[in-house]
Amino acid sequence: MAERVYIFDTTLRDGEQSPGISLGVREKLEIAEQLQRLGVDIIEAGFPATSKGDFEAVRRISEKISETVVCGLARAVPSDIDTAWEALKNAERPLIHTFISTSDVHLEHQLRKSREEVIEMARQAVSRARSYCPHVEFSPMDATRSDPEFLYRVLEAAIEEGAGILNIPDTVGYAVPDEFAAMIKGIMDNVKGIDTVRVSVHCHNDLGLAVANSIGALRAGARQVECAINGLGERAGNASLEEVVMAIKVREDRLGFETGIVTTEISKTSRLISLLTGYNVQANKAIVGKNAFAHESGIHQDGVLKERTTYEIMDARTIGLTESDIVLGKHSGRHALKEQLERLGHYLEEDELDEAFKRFKELADKKGSLSGDDIEAVALDFIRTEGQEWKLSAYEVHSGGHQAPPSATVTLEREDERVTERAVGDGMVDAACMAIREALGIKARLISFSIEAITGGLDALGDVTVQLDIGGRVVVGRGVATDVVEASARAYLNAVNKVIR
Ligand code: KIV
Ligand code: ZN
Repeated sequence: MAERVYIFDTTLRDGEQSPGISLGVREKLEIAEQLQRLGVDIIEAGFPATSKGDFEAVRRISEKISETVVCGLARAVPSDIDTAWEALKNAERPLIHTFISTSDVHLEHQLRKSREEVIEMARQAVSRARSYCPHVEFSPMDATRSDPEFLYRVLEAAIEEGAGILNIPDTVGYAVPDEFAAMIKGIMDNVKGIDTVRVSVHCHNDLGLAVANSIGALRAGARQVECAINGLGERAGNASLEEVVMAIKVREDRLGFETGIVTTEISKTSRLISLLTGYNVQANKAIVGKNAFAHESGIHQDGVLKERTTYEIMDARTIGLTESDIVLGKHSGRHALKEQLERLGHYLEEDELDEAFKRFKELADKKGSLSGDDIEAVALDFIRTEGQEWKLSAYEVHSGGHQAPPSATVTLEREDERVTERAVGDGMVDAACMAIREALGIKARLISFSIEAITGGLDALGDVTVQLDIGGRVVVGRGVATDVVEASARAYLNAVNKVIR
């Protein structure tokens, strides 16, 4: 009988700490609902004390998500714990996750606290969190570079104060698999009361070992893995959820574990996160990269055609990859759009659907028909831009020629304000972005620009991702349109709006 492993998703917290990602409340709600459909056990919805936006997102997710545990992060200080509870208190199944560093390097240079003080802070934090909430998780940050004997004492204190989950982070992604597994075994063997709690692991991917370390830890006694969709997270990211889950599923024969993940939702979730965060998935990424099930060499193709298992260890359908047969045209109605969006896993409110339908009509008029990928891109573009302050209401571009440089005129609107600005640039995209900058009076440096066609064909929707540095803050923006200049202007404005927010 396989043993159950719990999946703690931190895409909305550690994942959102990836440089340039800044999700709005509506986007976070959409992701949380998809994570619930995916069947994760815990959604770490944010770090409420860090900003009003994070607080609001955790509060709204707590109100909306009823089946999955909703978690909020808090440093081991009273005000963080109070704020986390304030955001979580309406959740059906709340969890407070509190943490403090335990390595000497952090104690000496960052916290400037003695070991005894840290133990006391951990005790106070867990006991305060428990006074609000029956479910508390405790993490000793930088555990893998901490003195094991001290670590055991801190963990024992957390258990005594009522923490039900002890999470062991490899905060800087320093551990190697046999070492990390031995560390977990040391905890299982030496910490008093460890058999009364769930042991979790949280591995960063600085050496590309986060998934291997997490699986090694399960074999040594851990029963929960903290991970993020597409491996998002601080620096090189966290253990990738889809890789951990599929390793457990495909190698159940060897590992003897199972999760509650609905694996057929994996591909959809990965795409949603990529489209909303602006972080593209590399083509050769395990499980969800676009080449993960592609066979290039003749020998492999021949083998797979004769018998799939010759070169495939997983069936693409297990992660929800199926040929999409959805096509909507300019005569399709609102109801058809709603139905197809729901098939793709997007449940819009009625007023949102009205707006999305308008945008769908505009595009269908230009393009004739829209495929499933196009429809999804439109819906997500709508979710991404809903609630953003400035909207692009009109634009006009001139490609220039011998006499005149390329130029663009954009009109932006927010509530009852309207600004129109014209600018010239090196090309039409440059001119449109310059006009936005001048209209809003901001300085921004373009770090990167990329464009992809959502589906094939010359009339394909263009999906533009930009990375901007605005006053030292790096933000990613994304925009979709049939015209690449419009898609670029939308992406640019999306990034600028994030900084304004
Ligand atoms: O990496 C880390 O140590 C963390 C903790 C807050 C769990 O993200
Ligand atoms: Zn982390």
